[in-house]
Amino acid sequence: MKKAFITGINGQDGSYLAEHLLNLGYDVHGTIRRNSVPENQSYRLGKVESNIHTYYADLLDQTSIEKLLMQIKPDEVYNLAAQSHVRISFDIPQFTVQTNAIGVINLIDACRRIVPDVKFYQASSSEMFGLSVESDAFQRESTIMNPTSPYGCAKVFGYNIVRHYRRAYNMHACNGILFNHESPRRGSNFVTNKVVKEACRIKLGLEDRLELGNMDSYRDWGHSKDYVKAMHLIVNHSEAEDFIVSTMETHSVREMCDVVFKYLGLDYRDYVHQNPIFLRPEELPYLRGDSSKARKLLNWKPEYTFEQLMYEMCDHWMDVFQGKESLR
Ligand code: NAP
Ligand code: GDD
Repeated sequence: MKKAFITGINGQDGSYLAEHLLNLGYDVHGTIRRNSVPENQSYRLGKVESNIHTYYADLLDQTSIEKLLMQIKPDEVYNLAAQSHVRISFDIPQFTVQTNAIGVINLIDACRRIVPDVKFYQASSSEMFGLSVESDAFQRESTIMNPTSPYGCAKVFGYNIVRHYRRAYNMHACNGILFNHESPRRGSNFVTNKVVKEACRIKLGLEDRLELGNMDSYRDWGHSKDYVKAMHLIVNHSEAEDFIVSTMETHSVREMCDVVFKYLGLDYRDYVHQNPIFLRPEELPYLRGDSSKARKLLNWKPEYTFEQLMYEMCDHWMDVFQGKESLR
């Protein structure tokens, strides 16, 4: 039985990855951070809690990480832990850089010393591309990185340190450069879940307006369930390499609002207003990933369409607000 170690197992991706690896027969271990309300930390793990092993740890607490690597001796490490909110990274830049950059070197260097043959996956991000777009309107593995946020800058460091450890120490260390991916388990302050949740509340008469920031940025939005499958394929590819994971489609925030409100029988223009407090000091205007390499070498492709993703999120929140909550 292969052992997987997932940092940030109680996050959106960590919880779906744990379910996927359990289905593949893995022994799954993962870290959570101490929180004053422990119930908040495990709600996404409801389907698998009794089948996985969770431990308190923090990427910034080196001893906690080393102790677990020595105890578990994993075959595969998935570093999903991060301060993952781009706008909040402008508010807490130092914590973001500590976790998303220094945290990666803490973990990969501990792996080099304790489990040098481990297969290592780093959760890299399309936010690293920032303002760079190729002439055919895609970002791909060869696109120059030009980040526009403390989050993006820190992720570029994590990406580069993983490539450096691969070359310098011959480690099987890979980057998945994932474009935005969502689900009913997405944090509610990311734009898709914020829009869906508030649109459902408007539909049910519990709210009458929704305030957003920039509605004219474009994102390549996929489903987290599809993307965690790619993580496993990336780390198990014969060569340690870096792969883009994306749908190859892009939609504006405005189009996403239109799809969600229309599904609920509403017109977003009647309810959505701009509030400058949700604007960012620097915006990343456009993302569209070319995942041809992953599709060819890993035989991966997304199963969900953009509309199916948004409809599943709407159905989930309508159920929750009508008292029929279930973990999807
Ligand atoms: P998420 O839901 O925010 O999960 C992040 C996890 O990291 C949470 O469990 C969080 O714990 C934990 N964490 C935060 N700081 C930590 C620290 N110092 N030490 C240990 N754990 C820490 O994010 P996600 O959407 O699942 O994303 C997973 C990873 O993929 C992240 O690295 C993210 O940056 C990256 N990524 C995400 C996307 C996307 O669109 N979702 C795209 C590209 C890359 P708490 O809940 O206690 O804070
Ligand atoms: N969160 C948020 N809230 N975003 C808004 C809002 C709002 O009220 N109004 C407009 N937006 C716009 C943002 O300005 C951005 O252009 C877009 O919606 C998407 O914002 P988020 O959903 O917060 O995601 P993100 O693209 O900044 O970051 C996500 O994707 C990255 C990959 O590209 C995160 O998951 C990152 O962790 C991930 O690396």
